[in-house]
Amino acid sequence: MTTAWHCYDRRDMMVAALRDATVAKLRESLTKYGRAAWAVSGGSTPAPLFEAMSAVPLDWAHVDVALVDERWVGTDHPRSNEAFVRGCLKKNKAKDARIIGMKTPHEHAAEAAATVNARYALIPRAFDSVLLGLGPDGHTASLFPGAEGLEKAFDMKGKRTCAALKAIKSDVTGDEVERMSLTAPAIACAHHVALMITGEDKKKVLQEALSTKRDLPVARLAEVVDIDIYWAP
Ligand code: 6PG
Repeated sequence: MTTAWHCYDRRDMMVAALRDATVAKLRESLTKYGRAAWAVSGGSTPAPLFEAMSAVPLDWAHVDVALVDERWVGTDHPRSNEAFVRGCLKKNKAKDARIIGMKTPHEHAAEAAATVNARYALIPRAFDSVLLGLGPDGHTASLFPGAEGLEKAFDMKGKRTCAALKAIKSDVTGDEVERMSLTAPAIACAHHVALMITGEDKKKVLQEALSTKRDLPVARLAEVVDIDIYWAP
């Protein structure tokens, strides 16, 4: 599969380019089918993109915005990806977007996979665009190196859209080792996959993953998915 780098001198330039690319994908489906679907990551990097997207006049009431991954905490928790997306994106012009989160009342993520898959099955078609992030350990979505459930999430014959994983605790995971994530085959079905990263450190992590550390999850995903990499210092 191919990875294409789109590098910018400044973050605002990267955000504008990724906003335009994403809007084009969503508009195409809104025009053709009357609905569109965007899968988005949490973390912190996408905040300016979500702010920019929230200012775009789009038929947001017909856009499903689904989480790429979630930490197993309540939706009002400061580390909740869903809370982050709601706070940065679901406002202004995008206030009517339909947010599809992954958190359920189940105590453990592993007990919730069937419920979350049923929820995602209501999204009528494959994602028009998927927005990924990258961790310093080479994880993307919640596909963490060495995580319990990782091989199942990478099973390209697997039919599931979402899978529960349990990461090895690290500075990167924080306390939230239980995760729900889109699977590799679900990401591979998307029409467009963008990986948004900033800073020299992440660029190095990604370059190393794509060259010599091919067992890191982001590199494994790049084996099965075409990825547009958006980078700015
Ligand atoms: C998560 C995220 C994760 C994120 C990367 C990058 O829940 O941990 O969704 O996949 O995209 O960890 O995070 P930052 O943008 O904060 O660097």
